[in-house]
Amino acid sequence: MSDPDEAALRTLAGNRRQGESRRPPARYDYTCPSPATYPFQWNWDTAFHAIALSRRDPARARAEVESLLLAQRPSGFVPHMVLWQEELRAQTAAEWPIALDVCGWHTATANPPVLPLAVERLSAAAPDGWLDRVVPSLVRLMTWWRIRRDPDGCGLVRIFQPDEAGLDMSPKYDVVLGIDAADPARIVPRWHEAMRELIAGYATARAAHGPDVDLSRLSRFVWQDVLMNSIVGSSARALARLLRMLGRDDAAAEWDAAASRTTAALLRHCWDDTVGAFFDTYLDAAGQLVHAPVLTASSLFPLILDDLPSEVAARLVDHLTDESEFWLPYPVPSVAASEPSFDATFATGAIFRGSSWVNLNWYLHLGLRLHGYDDVAADLARRTRAMVGRAGLRECYGPYDAAGHGARDFSWSALVLDLAGAGAG
Ligand code: GLC
Repeated sequence: MSDPDEAALRTLAGNRRQGESRRPPARYDYTCPSPATYPFQWNWDTAFHAIALSRRDPARARAEVESLLLAQRPSGFVPHMVLWQEELRAQTAAEWPIALDVCGWHTATANPPVLPLAVERLSAAAPDGWLDRVVPSLVRLMTWWRIRRDPDGCGLVRIFQPDEAGLDMSPKYDVVLGIDAADPARIVPRWHEAMRELIAGYATARAAHGPDVDLSRLSRFVWQDVLMNSIVGSSARALARLLRMLGRDDAAAEWDAAASRTTAALLRHCWDDTVGAFFDTYLDAAGQLVHAPVLTASSLFPLILDDLPSEVAARLVDHLTDESEFWLPYPVPSVAASEPSFDATFATGAIFRGSSWVNLNWYLHLGLRLHGYDDVAADLARRTRAMVGRAGLRECYGPYDAAGHGARDFSWSALVLDLAGAGAG
């Protein structure tokens, strides 16, 4: 058992990447998620790194946020991945099913907008003028989500491929990707095929119209993800608080209203009162919006919304603390232990199919605190830190034994730094 904080600081130090890119001409400074597996800058990873660094090295955290924002388009779009190192681009594009934008240096896909929460965290130590510079970019980012990804104004944003939610291989997407959970050896190969088919199907529209294009009409993968929408709602609220810090009360009120609309829409479209949990909705082959009835950690994510009714929060906490579902020795498994697709040992080699993740725990910890479940939150923080102490900074962990799964020296697991002192040992 090692000290999780020391391990976190070591990984953050080793994974820092600074340099200059020629195309686009820019100086970058960010933390790569994992040197061997994920060398580039990823969107929500950046926000988690900034939060992990916020108390130890806020200047570096600000630089990381600014590096990501260098890739923001005039429409407000911020890409999922920024491939700063030119020499690595071709090989990555060949090996991984990623949707590169025609520019060749960032993807045409989006990613959960965690950034407003990270910037709020950095606001206290920011030099004069920093927030004035950064907050307008966040307004454009969140406006992009509202306009481009909720074109009907139903209150929920949609994604067009699973990696946009960051939960790539979650079994909740199996139904549309043609993955058979009962054939574990085929899950990863089939996922890669399905992703390539999806990306190929979008290529013409993306080449013609860029990353802002509404791909709904192609009806390939139109998905209203609960985790994504919970993050959108929570970040709209964070943006409102940031705007209020800048004295922009009218704009703040608009974002508060947007956050409330997200909560209402999640309750209307995704809440299953019989089960007492939220489920993603997607467009099925018949063109109907239906629930994807797989109980995953994202089913609990509306806990991060401060205006979630307390009786709904209580039912989510019942699931979270149920030892036959999520409350395993090293919670929170990304898929409930009661699901047939649950993979506790990473036997499938597929991510988000059962392992526990520090970023999901960090958010759920926040949600538990928001709704007054301080004891459960403290226990979750303690167990998360113990898990990282046992296996070091891995991408994800076995929920029964804290075995390290996936990539090594994985940066966002440094969020344990932020769970220190949160009732944790
Ligand atoms: C994987 C994860 C994604 C993460 C990326 C880099 O693709 O699914 O959420 O952003 O790795 O860590």
